[in-house]
Amino acid sequence: MDKIAVKGGKKLKGSVSISGAKNSALPVMTASILSAGESRISNLPALRDISTMGRLLENLGIGFSFKKGKASLNAEKIIKAEAPYDLVKTMRASVLVLGPLLARTGKAKVSLPGGCAIGARPINLHVKGLEKMGAKISLSDGYINAKARRLKGAVIYFDIPTVTGTENLMMAASLAEGETLLENAACEPEVVDLADALISMGASIEGAGTSIIKIKGVRSLSPLDYKIIPDRIETGTFIAAAGITGGDIEIKSCNPDHMVSVIVKLRETGMEISHEKNILRVKGPEKLRAVDVRTMPYPGFPTDMQAQFMALMAVADGTSMITENIFENRFMHVAEMRRMGAKIKIENATATVEGVEKLKGAPVMATDLRASASLLVAALAAEGETIIDRVYHIDRGYEKIEEKLMRLGADVRRVT
Ligand code: EPU
Repeated sequence: MDKIAVKGGKKLKGSVSISGAKNSALPVMTASILSAGESRISNLPALRDISTMGRLLENLGIGFSFKKGKASLNAEKIIKAEAPYDLVKTMRASVLVLGPLLARTGKAKVSLPGGCAIGARPINLHVKGLEKMGAKISLSDGYINAKARRLKGAVIYFDIPTVTGTENLMMAASLAEGETLLENAACEPEVVDLADALISMGASIEGAGTSIIKIKGVRSLSPLDYKIIPDRIETGTFIAAAGITGGDIEIKSCNPDHMVSVIVKLRETGMEISHEKNILRVKGPEKLRAVDVRTMPYPGFPTDMQAQFMALMAVADGTSMITENIFENRFMHVAEMRRMGAKIKIENATATVEGVEKLKGAPVMATDLRASASLLVAALAAEGETIIDRVYHIDRGYEKIEEKLMRLGADVRRVT
């Protein structure tokens, strides 16, 4: 099993390019199910989750090929409307095939994802929404079995704004009969990206990016030819990496408009961040300042940046309070950071982080994607060597992370 070894203390310098957004790429790939033709997607990141989604789509009968950021997906025929447990258990985003399969074929059998390292993560709101559109859904042997003649437009209110729930229902509603209103919908840029992709296929969608989305169903959709937006969490992770090392870097091919909450909070820590078009310039201070943060749905501070922010606060001047409002168990990185000398206490959903002068390298274990990114960020500033185990988590969501960091001057290597 691969590990990443980091010798801390190098100030990052130079320039890095951001890859396509994983959490846009996954739903856009499943949108290809909606059209009986050959779809093309570009700026796809070469990640483990993308190949898992490719295998899942192949399993449905879709021809999938992927090279140099470009994928072709031929959904002429759907042979088997089923997402098996083996694939779903390794990637919860597999549930994104539920809405499109039901809309295209009138049936879907999708393994119910279990709990995961960051929380229980139910999908009751996806199911409730599809039922409201007329689907008959039952659960047997750990699988959701869904059936519908043709889905019907409906007014669907989400108790909690859910990103993949909004995406699943937006895709289902695109081929439904009549109009669907999604209320209290998620506003994340990835939802907007999927809406733009669907619109390019001929769907009628208004309001994506706001909490009310109106979709008028159409009979059929054309294949996709679409470019994925830059990954805002990868961008934020590189800003954090520059900040913690007191570095000075340029981040290219990103979208600063998607980064407002992250930029504002990171500037409060003393970092200098400026931007022009799709380039961010970031300079870390001599010493970071402690700042409180609360995770919120977009445009609030993203839960996917909480762990990396905590790494910064672990070495900041003062004490900060970090509150996680989205997932109930997203503090798995804390125990590992403590092994590096961080002083962090957790009470309910809040971590109190008392900044220390220096973190110390240690063997640590990655527990989920963003937790592993935070350990990497912490390791860049730690004294001595940190060995991060189970880096398959990081490979799910960061393209060539160690190569990109090495080019910025970090002492990082993969140990296979
Ligand atoms: N929720 C429910 N019922 C549902 C759906 C969600 O109670 O039916 C709850 C969740 O348990 C959670 C909250 O609603 O407390 C929000 O979860 P959401 O559904 O928005 O999360 P998700 O769609 O499963 C996506 C990203 C996550 C990211 C979250 C929050 C993808 C593929 N995944 O997950 O990304 O953390 O939104 O922004 O888009 C990651 O990339 O590391 C990652 C975990």
